[in-house]
Amino acid sequence: MKIVVTGAAGFIGSHLCEHLLASGDHEVIGVDAFVREELQIIGNKNIEGFYNHPNFQMITANILDIDWHKTLENADIVYHLAGIPGVRSSWGADFRSYVDTNILGTQRLLEACSSLALQKFVFASTSSVYGETTGQVSEDRKLAPLAPYGISKLTGEHLCRVYSDRVPIVILRYFTVYGPRQRSDMAFHRFIRQLLHNDPITLIGDGSQSRDFTYIKDCVEATAAIVNAANVIGETINIGGKERATVTNVIQSLELLTGKQANIIQSGMMHGEPMHTWADISKANKLLNYEPKISLMTGLAREVEYLSHYYK
Ligand SMILES: NC(=O)c1ccc[n+]([C@@H]2O[C@H](COP(=O)([O-])OP(=O)(O)OC[C@H]3O[C@@H](n4cnc5c(N)ncnc54)[C@H](O)[C@@H]3O)[C@@H](O)[C@H]2O)c1
Repeated sequence: MKIVVTGAAGFIGSHLCEHLLASGDHEVIGVDAFVREELQIIGNKNIEGFYNHPNFQMITANILDIDWHKTLENADIVYHLAGIPGVRSSWGADFRSYVDTNILGTQRLLEACSSLALQKFVFASTSSVYGETTGQVSEDRKLAPLAPYGISKLTGEHLCRVYSDRVPIVILRYFTVYGPRQRSDMAFHRFIRQLLHNDPITLIGDGSQSRDFTYIKDCVEATAAIVNAANVIGETINIGGKERATVTNVIQSLELLTGKQANIIQSGMMHGEPMHTWADISKANKLLNYEPKISLMTGLAREVEYLSHYYK
């Protein structure tokens, strides 16, 4: 199949491309503008393992002004992962970039897809659309984002819905993804870097906030399973991980894995982030045969190993 992946140089997108290419069954077209400063340095590192793969083509372009007609020619599946992620930076003036990419960019891509004979259009959404919740959250839970980021992704979901009579949409809601290549603004990456450099750990909130943490390999297996899945068109599906933990638990595990003691400095309160997330993944299990396999300790060990080499 011919598969177009937007956000191909990013954390999740690069792992997805690698996974799709490894199957040997697909031609993969990656689209990315390397928008974050960090990606201009590490982006090439993300894609270096498959950049020269004979079935891969990288298009460096912004989703807002790319020639979609040409890029999408004969495409069977589109994975739309390009986005401006991150809750904290969505407050203030930076929201402009969230609106441009997450809303306008998504609409332009959907518009271009609406005249094609696509098999599936997969939109990467987020647990942030739920807001503050208690207990396990299924896909039909009330949606109440707490931050501008969640608003931009929920608007992306709504756009998918209004195009769904012409575009075969599938919405995936990812719950905090971690592992090698994780973005440097994400908590695990920051904690590991600080421990490796013997710097104080900057903790936002009091550490009792808990998350459903999804290891990248599990996330990508669920995402790639969409290719052959039946009965997924029009569905919204939670992709959560094997284990939940508090941020304090995670720091304790990282102390064990790095052999270093954390000097924790509280660096502000949470703003626009829920206290807890917990995915009900029974729908992913039923439709995608999804069962997350990687324990938090194993996943953290792999991220520590990756970042130890990266920061050498
Ligand atoms: N990482 C997570 O835990 C998580 C959780 C929920 C949802 N998501 C969603 O998954 C997707 C991927 O997240 P990630 O963590 O891999 O982020 P990332 O920043 O590593 O990847 C996003 C990629 O999109 C590209 N991009 C951004 N704007 C673009 C534009 N206008 N044109 C072309 N390329 C552009 C970036 O250069 C980047 O490579 C995002 O849509 C995000 O909202 C991620």
